[in-house]
Amino acid sequence: MTDWGRICAERLEALARVSEPGPGVTRLPFTDQHAEVLDFLRSWMTDADLAHYIDDAGTLVGRHEGDGRDGTFYIGSHQDSVRQGGAFDGIMGIVLAITTLQKLRDAGMPPACPIEVLGFADEEGVRWPTALVGSRAIAGTVDPAVLGMTDRDGVTLRAAMEGFGLAPDRIAKIARRRNGALGYLECHIEQGPVLEQADAPLGVVTAICGIERHAVTLTGETGHAGTLPMATRRDALVGAAALVAEVDRAAQKTEVLRATVGEMHVTPNVVNAVPREVRLTIELRAPDDALREAASLQLRDFARRMAGNRGLHCDMQRSYIQPAQPCDLPLTDALAHAVGTVTGRTALRLPSGATHDASAMADLCPISMLFVRCRNGVSHTPDEHVTPEDLGHAVDALATFLAQLR
Ligand code: HGY
Ligand code: MN
Ligand code: MN
Repeated sequence: MTDWGRICAERLEALARVSEPGPGVTRLPFTDQHAEVLDFLRSWMTDADLAHYIDDAGTLVGRHEGDGRDGTFYIGSHQDSVRQGGAFDGIMGIVLAITTLQKLRDAGMPPACPIEVLGFADEEGVRWPTALVGSRAIAGTVDPAVLGMTDRDGVTLRAAMEGFGLAPDRIAKIARRRNGALGYLECHIEQGPVLEQADAPLGVVTAICGIERHAVTLTGETGHAGTLPMATRRDALVGAAALVAEVDRAAQKTEVLRATVGEMHVTPNVVNAVPREVRLTIELRAPDDALREAASLQLRDFARRMAGNRGLHCDMQRSYIQPAQPCDLPLTDALAHAVGTVTGRTALRLPSGATHDASAMADLCPISMLFVRCRNGVSHTPDEHVTPEDLGHAVDALATFLAQLR
């Protein structure tokens, strides 16, 4: 009896070694690490009888022809990680899809309908201030303007894609026809504690939260830390501290809003000078768009008043927006049935606080997500972990789901 969970675990261990130096996994899009991971995925796609190619958005596409009908079911996730992240976020969904199709092929039960496994290049949006490039290209919603965005070294997304051998100006041709898209399924670690607390290896997702991100620059005046009187200071970092405290307070008073100041850069950032400028990011997430937008307006107003009171200049620009996305109920019911068949208990249904490529694929077709339990609910850290047993449960649930696709 083949241990498909162990096979997935070994494949993910091999992929986790494909990283920039340092703790955990750092694998950014259109880099040497990305190219090396594609070599692994291509070889496993070949083992599973998937015809594969890379599209001009950098997505690795593995196709199972099935009965050749005019329609395709998509399964995918992302190959990229955050900096010093884990070995499972994103990449696990691609490995599970390929390995499950290999299992079904070996069992002489290949899925009836055409299937495409999609390995997206850039979901995290860590290298450039955009995200979901590959899935948006497939859905036909990518904004070509993002190609001009630059990373921290001044490399544009366009240049990085061209350096990867792609033709980003053809990105619009990648879009799939809505009437040919049967649906999309993404298998992903939960990145939270709910499944573990319920002692459930798998769950199904009801909705994916909406996100908005703001780039804030507070500008005051620098000066000598020993001679500049406190009363006359326009200290940008003191203003930033007040704003960070307000972001936290706004989220703490609600049940579902998540607010984070994840990035901060202080200038001149030296021990004996008053900070002149602080650049920081504010990220808001909620399953309810109206609640998130109200919080955004309230924080913008607070920042404006706080800066005025402290003699600071405040520039706050929204840099990213993504509405909340419910999962398709019939597809999710079918997935829940497969999970119930495999685990012998009713599938737990939960929202996703993290966002995913599924959010973008929802513009193309009905979406569904399978969540897999992760140890201590941690993610975006080197400690991210899924057991081979739970990987095996996920393969079984995915195989059951695909076998019932008609
Ligand atoms: O930020 C997220 O939720 C995802 O991991 N990119
Ligand atoms: Mn992530
Ligand atoms: Mn992810």
